[in-house]
Parts: sequence; C-alpha cells; structure tokens
Amino acid sequence: MRVAFGCDHAGVPLRGAVLKVLQALGLDVLDFGTFDTGSVDYCLFAEPVAQAVAKGDAELGILVCGTGVGMAISANKVPGVFAAHASDCYTARMAREHNAANVLTLGARVVGAGVAEEIVRAFVTTEPSSEERHERRRSQMRELEQRALRGNC
Ligand code: RB5
Repeated sequence: MRVAFGCDHAGVPLRGAVLKVLQALGLDVLDFGTFDTGSVDYCLFAEPVAQAVAKGDAELGILVCGTGVGMAISANKVPGVFAAHASDCYTARMAREHNAANVLTLGARVVGAGVAEEIVRAFVTTEPSSEERHERRRSQMRELEQRALRGNC
C-alpha cells in the first residue's frame, strides 16, 4: 500500500513519528513535505496529497497541521476524498471502518508523537466494513458529493 503524506510548518514536529510508523509497517510513502518549520500555507500541502488519493496514486493520505482542521477542510474539497480528523485511536479506527475515510488529519499542537503513532497505526491497518448499513451511508455521501458537483444541492 502507498500512503501520501503532507504537513505544514506546524505539523513538522509529527513528521518523524508518522513516517516511522508507515515505514515500520512496510508501506510506501509519497512525501509532499513540508520539511522544515518555515511558515507555509496548509492548503498547498493538502491539495497534492488529496489529489494523489483521488487519482489513485496513493490508497491513503495523512496530513498534519497545527490542529488538523485546516488540512481536513482543504482535503475534503477534492472530490473522492473523505478526510477525517482524529485525535484518538477509536475515531481513527471508526473513520476507516464505518466511513471509509481515505485521508487522516492530525493536529501536532493537539496530540504528541506517541498518541499520533497509535492513531496512524489504527487508521492504516483498519479496513472499511462491508456491512450493508455502512455501505449505504457511504454511498449516500458519494451521491451528495455528485449532487454538489452538479450544483444541485
Ligand atoms: C498554522 O499556524 C495553523 O493555523 C495551521 O497549522 C492549522 O492548525 C490550521 O488549521
């Protein structure tokens, strides 16, 4: 599996922790930066990660900013992306199992490296549930996206 990764300057403190988990799990990483703490705009890093997932260049994406919120809002503007913000393992696991989220966002000013590592591990190792009610709800979200793209909602 390939995972696209991106962060802004506020997310840099979690870069190493996130990449360490992905490497330990033997996953390929598409790293879009940023690489240092010089101030940058989160949307510029959310977009290539979200596009990589939407185009199928990566199966999953992980984005880190100060809160995880700017990254989540930005990534969710790209059709086909279901970005979920998580600060705990339960949310990360459910975001995959119930919502089939394909992008995880984290806040480096919210969670420390140890918690972030567990969240990333939970997210990338959980598969979407094939139970009918979850499939139905995911399908409703995709239909909502299609209606919005047609300007019909
Ligand atoms: C940067 O200061 C901060 O606003 C950004 O990392 C993120 O938290 C936005 O949602």
